[in-house]
Amino acid sequence: MKFYLINGSNRRKFNTAKLIDAVAEGITDELDNQNKTAKVEIIDLYTLEYKGCKSCLHCKKIEGKYYGTCPIKDDLNELLPKFWGADALILGSPIYFRNVTGQMRCFLERLLFPKYVYGGESLSKPKHTAMIYDMNVSEEISNEKYNHIYDNIEDFLEYTFKIKPYSLKVYDTYQFKDYSLYQHNFDEEAKRKQMEEQFPKDLEEAYNIGVQLVKDVIDAKN
Ligand SMILES: Cc1cc2nc3c(=O)[nH]c(=O)nc-3n(C[C@H](O)[C@H](O)[C@H](O)COP(=O)(O)O)c2cc1C
Repeated sequence: MKFYLINGSNRRKFNTAKLIDAVAEGITDELDNQNKTAKVEIIDLYTLEYKGCKSCLHCKKIEGKYYGTCPIKDDLNELLPKFWGADALILGSPIYFRNVTGQMRCFLERLLFPKYVYGGESLSKPKHTAMIYDMNVSEEISNEKYNHIYDNIEDFLEYTFKIKPYSLKVYDTYQFKDYSLYQHNFDEEAKRKQMEEQFPKDLEEAYNIGVQLVKDVIDAKN
């Protein structure tokens, strides 16, 4: 069994990374619980050199050498086949300008387009996935303005990997290490309260997604 967790944030000690770590913990605890071993690996997109899809269309060339894969030789070249062969993929990203980060978008293009079939079923086998988003805004604003972002990404994940992704949205995150040192218009106290009271619950939800993914993968194998 192979579980890959993809961190679409540059900050290894902040919100997205903590959520990804919580999913990883849920995965490893449930594997232990079930006396199973598996590969569980976290990939930080910001440590990799790559670009988004270049529309070379080799992945669509019938009987071409690269049909269904990606010919671009960069840091994703060796990783993409691992991700396509995984049992579960967990993707986490902060919201930047009402979308996932540029790194995550470029990654999604490279992950999804090679398996995309115009007017047909994707070339991928079924795979369990989860999408985690974290952001500054409140749940209300997210519901009002961001739902189409989640739907777009999750529709393409579901089309490609044939199973509905788990989805976790984490609101009102604590953004600065020390709010007094930076320009902002946030209520630091409210943010701190959210971090102390709500974020642990978000981490628990992330952990539970990890547990559930292991159960799903094991069920699918039986
Ligand atoms: C360039 C940039 C753009 C951002 N845009 C948004 C936004 O549109 N909506 C939002 O709710 N938060 C936005 N944020 C805040 C981050 O999504 C939020 O702080 C997130 O939890 C940071 O994740 P991290 O701690 O893993 O870096 C933005 C942050 C940055 C740096």
